[in-house]
Amino acid sequence: MAIRDVLKMGDPRLLEPARPVEDFASHELTQLIVDMHDTMRALNGAGLAAPQIGVGLQVVIFEVVTNPRYPDAENVPFTVLINPLLTPLSDDLEEGWEGCLSVPGMRGLVPRHASLRYQGFDQTGQPIDRTVSGFHARVVQHEVDHLRGILYPMRIRDLRDFGFTETLFPGQNLQDD
Ligand code: NI
Repeated sequence: MAIRDVLKMGDPRLLEPARPVEDFASHELTQLIVDMHDTMRALNGAGLAAPQIGVGLQVVIFEVVTNPRYPDAENVPFTVLINPLLTPLSDDLEEGWEGCLSVPGMRGLVPRHASLRYQGFDQTGQPIDRTVSGFHARVVQHEVDHLRGILYPMRIRDLRDFGFTETLFPGQNLQDD
C-alpha cells in the first residue's frame, strides 16, 4: 500500500496534458493504479487522476459509495479509465458544486454536460463504453479535465460561487476531493 502525495493547485505539473498509455501490461501501470486506488481511499475522494500524483499518463479512477461528501449522490462503481474519450450527448449543462483533492478545503459551482458517453480502456486493456448522466457524468468530466491540465476553478462561471467549504456549507463536515 502506497499513499502518494497529491499535488496542489499552483504546481505546474497539474497544468500539463497527459500522454496516452501505450503498454497495458507494464508493471509500472499496475503499480500506478494500486497507488492511485490507495491514495483515493485514504483521502476519501470520489476520483483521482494520475497527474495529481505527478504521473503524466491518461489514467483516472473514480468511485462513489456513500461518500460523506455527496450523501445524495448515486453510487458509481469503482472504475479505472485509461485513454478516455468523452462525447457529450447534448448541449445541456448543469451546475453543481465540486471539490478537488488538489484544491483542498474549497468548493466551486461548475457547469458540466448533463449526460455523456465515455469510452476508453480498463486496467487490463479491455474496452469501456458507458453512457451516463448526473453525478456520474460530472465525476468523469472532472477527472478527465485533469488529463488536459484543467482544474475545476478554471471552469467556474462566476467566482462569487467559489469559496471555503466550511464557510459555504457550515456544519456539514464535508471532506476534500
Ligand atoms: Ni480533482
